[in-house]
Formats: sequence, structure tokens, C-alpha cells
Amino acid sequence: MIQSVKSVPAFDNKLQYAAIEAEVSAAVLSILSSGRYIGGPIIDDFEQAFAEYHDVSHCIACNSGTDALYLALRALDISAGDEVITTPFTFIATSEVISAVGAKPVFVDIDANTYNLNLQQVAAAITPNTKAIIPVHLFGQPVDMTALMEIADAHKIAVIEDCAQSTGATWNDRKVGSIGHIGAFSFYPTKNLGGCGDGGAITTNDPEIAQRMRVIKNHGQTNQYYYNEVGVNSRLDSIQAVILKIKLKYLDDWNAKRKDIASRYSQFLSKVPGIVIPQELASGSGVWNQYTIRILDSKREILRKTLQDMGVNTMIYYPMPLHLQPVYKDLGYKEGQLPVCEQLSKEVTSLPMFPELSSEQQDQVIYSIKEATQHSYRHD
Ligand SMILES: Cc1ncc(COP(=O)(O)O)c(C=O)c1O
Repeated sequence: MIQSVKSVPAFDNKLQYAAIEAEVSAAVLSILSSGRYIGGPIIDDFEQAFAEYHDVSHCIACNSGTDALYLALRALDISAGDEVITTPFTFIATSEVISAVGAKPVFVDIDANTYNLNLQQVAAAITPNTKAIIPVHLFGQPVDMTALMEIADAHKIAVIEDCAQSTGATWNDRKVGSIGHIGAFSFYPTKNLGGCGDGGAITTNDPEIAQRMRVIKNHGQTNQYYYNEVGVNSRLDSIQAVILKIKLKYLDDWNAKRKDIASRYSQFLSKVPGIVIPQELASGSGVWNQYTIRILDSKREILRKTLQDMGVNTMIYYPMPLHLQPVYKDLGYKEGQLPVCEQLSKEVTSLPMFPELSSEQQDQVIYSIKEATQHSYRHD
């Protein structure tokens, strides 16, 4: 065992800020002294830069990833009586918005290797009421968008990509969020492109959908103080936009660092007994918002406890799949119905992952896992 252990956090926002502090502080001060805190040229600048980065024609900045998904569903007129297929192995925001517009979330199981939607089950779940599919590029790993778009196009169903955890990931060299009909992004601070507060964005190549989302995010206003439909207030603050515009320049470097860390973890953990490392699909290039392993044989809790004693903090995303959450009891899902995600929710553990994770910290994580597995398996 390592003697005097230092703590390795699961995530550390302060280091990223420290690296670009001068640039960010000056930009934030310029917004403060401009007196223009909502809207203005910085929002247009950020939207343009984000659209260019994704090679799409429209980007609409909004207040959060949750709002981005909500605005997408509203712009597609999805409402009561409609069904939207999605994964139960995601953050609640993905399905919450389906319920919020009055539609019904339809959960299908996931693939055990990628943690993403099982596309055969997606195809099998389509009914005449299905209006959209929301794939989540979970933990930064892209869904097989070629196969998914074939299914969706064959049935004329919209695809809203939940890119909250995957800004910068690609499928066949195209950025996620530019392949489906709409992409929804979160700038929550721990995301690959994280702001200093809440924020989100929507991408699309469809001018009508883009315009509709712009109207709905601004109270449904068509002309000043004229409203055709009920909207919401979902603006990205100017301060967040100026920070995100700076951070966007560094995103590819930060994602490359995450990839290096993931490769290192995979190299050293692939042969550790009782552990399954995450897999990438050949056409995908993931951005490792999380590096999530499976810990087999009901050893997760003891292993996590041992790791914590060794200074390594881990997280569980997600301990209970959405179809079994009390909030969805009226949908009538039963335990055992979606067995892969149910099993994985008992096994998954996310290791420390952020671009600034030092090689010493990575070593500590790897060493501790090797030690902890031996230790926990010895105490059977
Ligand atoms: C998969 C997924 N979808 C949606 C969201 C919602 O994003 P936000 O927190 O910005 O509302 C998150 C954020 O945690 C997420 O992880």
C-alpha cells in the first residue's frame, strides 16, 4: 500500500481556470465594464464559433443542456400522445424534458460494451407514435450514428443528439451534434467544454427549427412584445459566453489530454482481474468525459472504499437506471426488464478524469486499483 497518500479528486475545476486565468479574467472584466450582461455581440460571436467548430449552419446558445433538449423537443412540436425513445442509463435531464413536454419516454436497454443505446432495441421499440429518438453519447463515447440515422430515416423520425458529455467527439470524422437533426450541449462546469456556471447550446442545419428554437427560448417572442406561443427564458449569460468562447480554443487540446489519460488507464487496467475497461467503436473518437470501468462480482463497494482509503475518489454514474426510478413508476417498467443497464448500474465506477490530471495522479489511480483488487479479492 502507498504510505502517505495524497487525495486524487474525481474532478478539479480550479486547475483549468488557473491555466487561463489572465485571459478569462480580462474578458469577464470587459463584459462587466461594458454594462451589456444579456445578449449582445458576444453571444453572436460564441454561437458563430460553436457552429463553425461543429460545421453546422446554426447554433443557438441557451441556459443549460436541459433547456437545449427541451427547446429541441418543443421546436419539433413533440407533445402529449408522442413517444420518444431514449436510454435509461443517463442523467435524468435526458428523459425529464420528454416528460416536461407531455410526451412519453420509452426506455430501451444499452450495449454492455459502449454503455450506449442498443440500436436493435431502438428499432424494435418504434411505434406509430414515435416522434423522436434521443441518443446520448454517454461518457463522451459516440453512438453508432450511421446505424442510428438509418433506422431513424427509414421511419422518418427525428434524432436529437444529447451531446452534454461529448463536446468534440466524432463519428466518422463528423462532430457529434452535427449528424442528427439537432444537437444539444451542456456547458455545466464538469463537461468537456465547461463554463463557470450553467449554460447550453443547440446545433442544427435546419433553418426553420433553428428559428423556432430562438423564438421559444426568448419567451415565444416574434417581434418585440408580440408572442405567438408560450416560450421560456433560456438565455446564455454574456459572461458565460465570453468564457466559453475562450475555452473553445483549448477544447481539442483538453480532449487530447483526456484521450491520453484514457489510453494510459486502458493500457494498465486491461488485464486487472475482475475489471472491465470501456470499449470504443472503430468509427468513433470519444472525448472521455468519464472513464468508467465495470467492477465485477459485487465487489464495487468494497473496492471503492479501499480506493478511497488510498486517496482515490471515484463516482458512480448512474446507480439506478431511469426506468426504475420512482418518478417513472407510472410507466410500468419492472426490474429485470432492461437487464444490461440494471446490471451495469451495480458495477460501474468512474475514475478521476480531467485534462489536468498529472501523471503522478494517474499512477496513483492505476497502482491503487491494482492493489485494491488484490486486497478485496483476498478478503473473500
Ligand atoms: C447526458 C446529459 N444530458 C443532459 C444534461 C443536462 O445538462 P445541464 O446540467 O446543463 O442542464 C446532462 C448534465 O449533466 C447530462 O449529463
